[in-house]
Amino acid sequence: MLAFGIPESKLWGIISAGLAIVTIALVTVWAQENPMTSIYSQTGYLGKPNWTHNRVAFHIVLMVGGFFVSQIFGAIMWIFLSDKLWAQLIHIFFESSGLITMAIGLLAAVYDKNVINTAHLTTMHSWYGIFCISLYSISYMYGFLLGMLPAYFPNIELKLITNLRSFHGLLGQLSFCLSILSIVTGIMDQFAMTGCEYINLTLTTPDTDPGANYYGK
Ligand code: HEM
Repeated sequence: MLAFGIPESKLWGIISAGLAIVTIALVTVWAQENPMTSIYSQTGYLGKPNWTHNRVAFHIVLMVGGFFVSQIFGAIMWIFLSDKLWAQLIHIFFESSGLITMAIGLLAAVYDKNVINTAHLTTMHSWYGIFCISLYSISYMYGFLLGMLPAYFPNIELKLITNLRSFHGLLGQLSFCLSILSIVTGIMDQFAMTGCEYINLTLTTPDTDPGANYYGK
């Protein structure tokens, strides 16, 4: 079906690519230096990733800007490139980038916990993260073996390859959903209270006009 003169699958691909670029921009801004001495320290910047002082920022930037975004670009290649060989090469490039950024991101979180002597795997986020990482790694290896299959079994039926390939797609979709869950729970961990706080607001009567708080009563 066409939408705005563009096939619907391509439109979704363009929207996904746009949102992936927005994600990179947002996480880059979020990872700016946090000037703790000024009023901007209230803004919740992550601070610059640093292997000695700010390993968690490394974890977040790599998992979101690297691992998550690579999965998006790796998946949409099939929509845009009609040449299957190029689509496969670029798909492998992005999925490998995802694997590398994910491995270093995991290392940053694990190392951070080791440095501050904290137990591993104690939060819902860490368990979603482990499931996501495991599934992604299985899907990566499965995709690798799938690519090798025709070389070792030249007479393999096309229908069997198609079925095995769709299972690879399913694994990819599941690990992508788990990435979203990991990111959402990671953000919730980072900001235990996701809300706003008014300075100098003391209520003596019920709050019947919440909007007015924003401008000061
Ligand atoms: C796809 C994305 C992500 C994956 C797969 C992931 C995975 C993980 C894993 C496996 C751990 C446990 C490490 C350990 O116990 O040694 C962890 C820890 C952590 N992650 Fe993530 N993470 C992701 C994104 C995020 C995001 C977006 C944030 C914050 C905004 C975040 C913040 C944290 C923090 C603060 C810890 C240490 C505390 C804890 O275990 O919850 N992560 N992550």
